[in-house]
Amino acid sequence: MNEHANPQTLSARADELEEKMMHELGERIATKSVLFRMADGEIAMESGPALRAANPDKYFLMGADPRLPPMPKKPTLIDFFKNRFASLNHLLQSAALAKKNGHSEKVILACLLHDIGVAGFIRCDHGYWGAQMIEPYVDEEVSWAVRTHQALRFFPDTSVGYEYPQMYIDNFGADYKPEPYIVRDYERARKHKYYMTSRMICVNDIYSFDPNAKVNLDDFVDIVGRNFRQPEEGLGFDDSPSAHMWRTLMWPTRFL
Ligand SMILES: [Fe+2]
Ligand SMILES: [Fe+2]
Repeated sequence: MNEHANPQTLSARADELEEKMMHELGERIATKSVLFRMADGEIAMESGPALRAANPDKYFLMGADPRLPPMPKKPTLIDFFKNRFASLNHLLQSAALAKKNGHSEKVILACLLHDIGVAGFIRCDHGYWGAQMIEPYVDEEVSWAVRTHQALRFFPDTSVGYEYPQMYIDNFGADYKPEPYIVRDYERARKHKYYMTSRMICVNDIYSFDPNAKVNLDDFVDIVGRNFRQPEEGLGFDDSPSAHMWRTLMWPTRFL
């Protein structure tokens, strides 16, 4: 039956999902942050007292969400790759191509991490978010390159054979123009000593890869080990300026 023809069916299904969610959560109430709802075009938040009134025997979730894969007590970057990033293929393929092209470990790591903003957090300004997350743990050349690929992606560099991506024309329309802050960051980047490192992310940032290519996170564990300063306390518990971002990724439905 066509669901749209029968709103009752949809609402019954929503109730069922709610029931299932509550069951899986046990004695806890998970809440959605305002940002999660904005993705559905709604500016709203659940009222704490109303939720408590509807679930008088339950407390709010203040830690791990049992619906998500569990994270170890001292998580590593690799744990986030395995348990929190929605897709690894693009990151692994870009890093594999950089490796095949003989780039330095810094460039390979930058390619491996360049879109973690998209894979694990948020699309808007993903390069800036991703760079901020890794900044305390990598060489500044790597985080600078990840931040800046956001802007460089929109500008060709024929000296290394990088054209404006056809995919952007398909995705955003032929008349899309990057916003002034992107243009400013691009212009600043052109004169920067790490320009080519970031440009190499763009060159190895590909979307039509050989579907039969075998890529595996294990192939990059050593490079991560040598170039990402994994905090002993676990990513998120080391009091770095971005530790809270990793905690949020670990516990996205904590009440506070
Ligand atoms: Fe990107
Ligand atoms: Fe990418």
